[in-house]
Amino acid sequence: MSSKKNSPRILHDSFFYNEDCITGALNHLDDNSVDLIVTDPPYGINGNNHHLHYNRNEKLVVDGYIEIPGSEYEKFSYEWIREAARVLRPGGSIYVVSGYTNLSYVLRALQDEGLKEINHIIWKFNFGVYTRKKYVSSHYHILFCEKPGGVRTFNVESRFGLKEANENGRSINYFDREDVWTIPRQYKPGKIKNQNELPDELLKKMLQYSSNEGDLVCDFFMGGFSTARVAIGLNRKFVGFELSSSIFQEKIKEIETLEPGYLFSKLRTPIVKKSINQGKSWDPEECQKLLSRYNELLKSGKTKKDVVVILQDEFQRGYWSIEKALKKIIDLQ
Ligand SMILES: C[S@@+](CC[C@H](N)C(=O)[O-])C[C@H]1O[C@@H](n2cnc3c(N)ncnc32)[C@H](O)[C@@H]1O
Repeated sequence: MSSKKNSPRILHDSFFYNEDCITGALNHLDDNSVDLIVTDPPYGINGNNHHLHYNRNEKLVVDGYIEIPGSEYEKFSYEWIREAARVLRPGGSIYVVSGYTNLSYVLRALQDEGLKEINHIIWKFNFGVYTRKKYVSSHYHILFCEKPGGVRTFNVESRFGLKEANENGRSINYFDREDVWTIPRQYKPGKIKNQNELPDELLKKMLQYSSNEGDLVCDFFMGGFSTARVAIGLNRKFVGFELSSSIFQEKIKEIETLEPGYLFSKLRTPIVKKSINQGKSWDPEECQKLLSRYNELLKSGKTKKDVVVILQDEFQRGYWSIEKALKKIIDLQ
């Protein structure tokens, strides 16, 4: 590897390496130093033929995408995931975007390298690959895991307050945290892009829930530098790798023009209401009242979930606090 490849471009307190992520991580990243990894490795399905499926102007897709041969995919997955597990801090999170073909290798490597699965998210997108003799494939897998041994960042109200409801009275926080995400591909007419560029909306969601300002976010396979763009836009620090020189040279230009924190003005402000009784212990009289109100509301035909939402308001406590108290009272009976 040339020495030129080993020196990063440093922009906005963030480090960009035009080199292989496995040796790059070994050479440049300390153990337990990264708060969050969001990454989207090549899928091992001959990425350079993607243009056969998509209706877009291929002149605007930057050349140089580096694929991994299917026969090497298992070994390759173990190698980069071993590095990812090493550099993550205990409690740090990793999101890996994967297609179906080589999913089993990625899942096994994550597990064998000690990363614990928290959620298996399905990202449903809006451009199925056209087929006639089978169903249309219109989703990717996103494996959300943590490195055990520390406190995981999960900002439950970073996008919607727990008590925010839609016009039907249902929790929008709940819908946002379901593990099937419908997020359209981002169209960037006239802009130079990478093959498979992830939409900002998808990346914002992962970064808002799983990191804080000033955290170090890493992408092992930068491609179109989409994770970097969003990380800088949310005032996170960033480090990333991209092996292809042509992609790196093209996409780094966009990073130069960014203003750190540029995304904040476009973010929705969640309505976060702190319950007056939050954190207070339950006295026997309140427990009694809770149980009789719970039974009364259930009898009126409401679902258990809706009842707990109503009780949150009446007892000025959080959802889980109500659930836990009810379970304890009912178990004691
Ligand atoms: C699926 S794309 C990433 C797309 C990216 N998430 C985006 O939104 O644009 C995978 C990228 O990994 C790069 N790549 C392949 N092998 C690599 C390696 N060993 N180290 C670093 N990058 C690599 C490819 O050139 C490609 O740009």
